[in-house]
Amino acid sequence: MSSIIPVDLLAAATNPLYFDSLVTTNITNPTTIRLLSYHENFTNNVLDSNATARLAHNLDWEAFHEMGTYNLATDSLYVTSNWAGDLSNPINVTIIDLSSPDYPIQSTRYPNLAEANGGTNWYPPGTNSSTHATPPNLLFCDEGDFTAYSKLVSVDPVTNTSTVVLNSYLGRNFSSLNDVRQHPITGDLWFTDADYGTFQFFRPLSTIPKQVYRFSPTTGEVRVVADGFVQPNGLEFSPDLKTLYVTDTGAQEYAQNGTRPATIYAFDVSEDAKSVSGRRTFAYADKGFPDGIHADAEGNVWAGCGDGVHVWSPDGTLLGKVWIGVVSNNFAFLTGGRVLVFSNSQLWVVEGVKVRGREVCRDFGTECG
Ligand SMILES: *[C@@H]1O[C@H](CO)[C@@H](O)[C@H](O)[C@H]1NC(C)=O
Ligand SMILES: *[C@@H]1O[C@H](CO)[C@@H](O)[C@H](O)[C@H]1NC(C)=O
Ligand SMILES: *[C@@H]1O[C@H](CO)[C@@H](O)[C@H](O)[C@H]1NC(C)=O
Ligand SMILES: *[C@@H]1O[C@H](CO)[C@@H](O)[C@H](O)[C@H]1NC(C)=O
Ligand SMILES: *[C@@H]1O[C@H](CO)[C@@H](O)[C@H](O)[C@H]1NC(C)=O
Ligand SMILES: *[C@@H]1O[C@H](CO)[C@@H](O)[C@H](O)[C@H]1NC(C)=O
Ligand SMILES: *[C@@H]1O[C@H](CO)[C@@H](O)[C@H](O)[C@H]1NC(C)=O
Ligand SMILES: *[C@@H]1O[C@H](CO)[C@@H](O)[C@H](O)[C@H]1NC(C)=O
Repeated sequence: MSSIIPVDLLAAATNPLYFDSLVTTNITNPTTIRLLSYHENFTNNVLDSNATARLAHNLDWEAFHEMGTYNLATDSLYVTSNWAGDLSNPINVTIIDLSSPDYPIQSTRYPNLAEANGGTNWYPPGTNSSTHATPPNLLFCDEGDFTAYSKLVSVDPVTNTSTVVLNSYLGRNFSSLNDVRQHPITGDLWFTDADYGTFQFFRPLSTIPKQVYRFSPTTGEVRVVADGFVQPNGLEFSPDLKTLYVTDTGAQEYAQNGTRPATIYAFDVSEDAKSVSGRRTFAYADKGFPDGIHADAEGNVWAGCGDGVHVWSPDGTLLGKVWIGVVSNNFAFLTGGRVLVFSNSQLWVVEGVKVRGREVCRDFGTECG
């Protein structure tokens, strides 16, 4: 039995209320998840025909917000909780145990981490990511607070120790570091800096533009690679590493404003993987804004948006959605054709995904053909 619902784009073309009749949920207690196919490649290339999706957790607090990084040594996924509006109860890290089909969770905090947001796996200089001889650490974007710097912090989730990797641009404060990726060949850290700590009233006013940076952990060099954003947020490489995607979530600042970007921009990455050029509009989200972004190994681009996770083909065609009717800020590819989707209070599981995440083989230490 398939739970995949086909979308009739020609019907939608002349009926602005089409989608309201297709799927609905109770936004104060969302428990409905649907797989919506906007293009035949969603069912042909992205999902198995028997793909299914379900709710795994529905909590009374917001454990599942950002990051979603796997650690091999603990067989767990690390997710940052949502800001709860209270400096005395800072953002938590939710640990999802992947060794059990029930995905049990626990909450923790790590030293040197004030208000964590996005993150990734971190292979320090000298480690070989293909052998896992030295297990990777977690790398968090810490948005900072009124006293703590916004910074990149690495955490060893086995010993629970942490190390500050970068906490300023050559002496100038970052605003609210948002998300980070490590280039798998050069080892450089590419990251975004936005104003969300200020918008959520736990950071002072920003003193530097909204930019995308590249940091070399071997030399300490830090450079601006792109600017001109309203709020640069998620970022991701294509599997061939020739394209960098950066989301602009400017539509959400202190309040929502639909006239500002909710857009994924694509850039060409230079041959030496040090700079980018050729900025172009890759996709504009029809609901909410594209926040966390990950590519699959076939080059499709997935992003958490206002009604779930949207999936675009490498040419920018909207192929389909994992629809939950409420905001998803991020999600994670697992092994075994699974994707976990975060919507703050809820954790959802999609099973029967045919494509695998760009970094799944490396991070899970599995052989991939
Ligand atoms: C929506 O969920 C809320 C919270 O569980 C509940 O109180 C309300 O009755 C639900 N609304 C509908 C139409 O089911
Ligand atoms: C779904 O289909 C795939 C192949 O298309 C198969 O490997 C898998 O076992 C199927 N899963 C279920 C639950 O039937
Ligand atoms: C941290 O975790 C606990 C549950 O263990 C939760 O009650 C608390 O509100 C969390 N803090 C935040 C900011 O989510
Ligand atoms: C990493 O390990 C793999 C597998 O042993 C090897 O092929 C590769 O050359 C190594 N890379 C570096 C940079 O040492
Ligand atoms: C930079 O951040 C640090 C740590 O929060 C703070 O003490 C310092 O005053 C800030 N500097 C400026 C120029 O804002
Ligand atoms: C690290 O933290 C986790 C989560 O709180 C805990 O289960 C584990 O025992 C801790 N390990 C050490 C060595 O303290
Ligand atoms: C929405 O944003 C635009 C562009 O920044 C601004 O001109 C406009 O005043 C804003 N609208 C509202 C209602 O705040
Ligand atoms: C659909 O998939 C086919 C076969 O993989 C590919 O040639 C085509 O470009 C895809 N179209 C879109 C819009 O993704």
